[in-house]
Amino acid sequence: MEPLILKYGNIILRDRIPADLADHRRWLRTETAWLDWDAPWEGNDPPFISKYLERLEQQLHQPLPAIRPTLEICHADGAHIGMVNAYYIDGDRERLAVGIGLRESSYWGKGLGTQAFLLWLSYQFAATGRKRIYCQTWSGNTRMLKLAAKSHFSECERIRNLHEIQGQRYDALTFVLNQAVFWTMHPELHPGGTI
Ligand SMILES: CC(C)(COP(=O)(O)OP(=O)(O)OC[C@H]1O[C@@H](n2cnc3c(N)ncnc32)[C@H](O)[C@@H]1OP(=O)(O)O)[C@@H](O)C(=O)NCCC(=O)NCCS
Repeated sequence: MEPLILKYGNIILRDRIPADLADHRRWLRTETAWLDWDAPWEGNDPPFISKYLERLEQQLHQPLPAIRPTLEICHADGAHIGMVNAYYIDGDRERLAVGIGLRESSYWGKGLGTQAFLLWLSYQFAATGRKRIYCQTWSGNTRMLKLAAKSHFSECERIRNLHEIQGQRYDALTFVLNQAVFWTMHPELHPGGTI
């Protein structure tokens, strides 16, 4: 299968290559600020990290799925800065959710997460044909909340006080985005050009 390369603004989304593994290793050992924001309640102990890296390595030797469940995020300047993913909420195939992690913290707050997220949404909407796509975060993740809101997601589920992070309680949040709304707001991202 042909490698996939998507571009929007200063962002490139592409399939994983072997050289990415060194960054993934670094993002779990030294450049780890993103872990304070991306599900900080999850324990990332050494056995978990080893298994995670082993799985990434194994996936490099497997055929690429027709619809990608993950892509790597690169800046147009060539830097490899994070990844996007897609998953079923609680394994429910009716509810496909997208996730994003700019794992290089020096790239935060420059509009790059917005570009990468919109590009990933356009790919998932076009490739899957789904009418709705979800995303999830927690009430303390201001950047992600703003990103979901400006991408026109609306809140559809809130579990109050589910997570305790550094002695404070936060809500678990699920948002939903309608495909028609997305293409109306971002016709430039539609595979057929403007709609
Ligand atoms: C969440 C994330 C993808 C956002 O990407 P980003 O490039 O940093 O954000 P952007 O520059 O595109 O800005 C998105 C919004 O957040 C706002 N924002 C950016 N930095 C902010 C800050 N320090 N405080 C408050 N708001 C901020 C922006 O103003 C923008 O909203 P606006 O356009 O309404 O003003 C990125 O910060 C990240 O990956 N963080 C770590 C991992 C994570 O939290 N992933 C999400 C898990 S659910």
